Amino acid sequence: MTHTKCIGPNYVDNTPRFNIEPTRIEWTTFYPTYAPIEYNAPCFTHPIPPSWADPIDISAIQWNKRNEYGLFNFDSRGYPMNPNGRTGMTGRGVLGKWGPNSAGDPLFTMWKRDNNGEIIYIDNLPVLLFVAIERSDGGDGGEGKYALPGGMVDAGEVVTQTIAREFSEEALGTLSSDDKVETIESLHKLINSSGRQIYKGYVDDRRNTDNAWMVTTCINVHDESGNIFNQFKLSGGSDAARAMWMEYHPSLQYFKLYASHANWVKKAYELVSSDLLSSKFNTFNQLKNVLGYLGCAVNQHN
Ligand code: BGC
Repeated sequence: MTHTKCIGPNYVDNTPRFNIEPTRIEWTTFYPTYAPIEYNAPCFTHPIPPSWADPIDISAIQWNKRNEYGLFNFDSRGYPMNPNGRTGMTGRGVLGKWGPNSAGDPLFTMWKRDNNGEIIYIDNLPVLLFVAIERSDGGDGGEGKYALPGGMVDAGEVVTQTIAREFSEEALGTLSSDDKVETIESLHKLINSSGRQIYKGYVDDRRNTDNAWMVTTCINVHDESGNIFNQFKLSGGSDAARAMWMEYHPSLQYFKLYASHANWVKKAYELVSSDLLSSKFNTFNQLKNVLGYLGCAVNQHN
């Protein structure tokens, strides 16, 4: 994957960045005039850095524990190198960790139904609903302020726990409520039993630098009947100003979400809709076989 969001003259907080030539992103491309700008957000160089960030001295970092998303190289100063190439900025930027910074993204889906409980189809293709949030930091701006309710993996968490916790905090508004632990536990069980991994890897994120970058795992949990997810009382919390069911259908000309989230919704749609359409097709075929055996004619109705 070539990155496009983490190049350009300005970094997320408007710190200037070396304006890289898009054809010279790869490390293997000769670029003698490459002069990236070094930047570490001021809070990281404070004598007591935030607890979620690496210390200033990187000698104690166990790099082999950061390989889950793939191996990476190191530059001549001993800093990890972005596996997707140059960004025009060295240092950690605003990311807390050197090398990969892990996140998790929940993609909870169900079909849009009419008042009789029937799935709504447009041009023979079902309409999907997924839980989205409006990011309170404005996200990518414009329609990119809408996102999946994901977030960073906390110390000691496995990514499925992060996905459950973030969903609970950002989409169910259970940040400080008493039943937070129970909610997260049930969501975690649901994710482990019915989740389908949609993406795991590098993210083309505006915060990436030459030495720090985002990786994430996106898991889809699809409620085919809608009976469980229908009961969610969506409410924004934590970094989310609002939480809502958003629609996706392939006929949408313009579908934009934060970072790479729109691609994952499209991929999940392909999987769940082909499950649905093939089960319809199978039912039809079974029916056709049975009725065919009895000598009846069958027409398919969508
Ligand atoms: C967001 C995730 C996103 C990841 C990579 C995190 O800060 O919460 O939703 O996938 O960054 O862009």
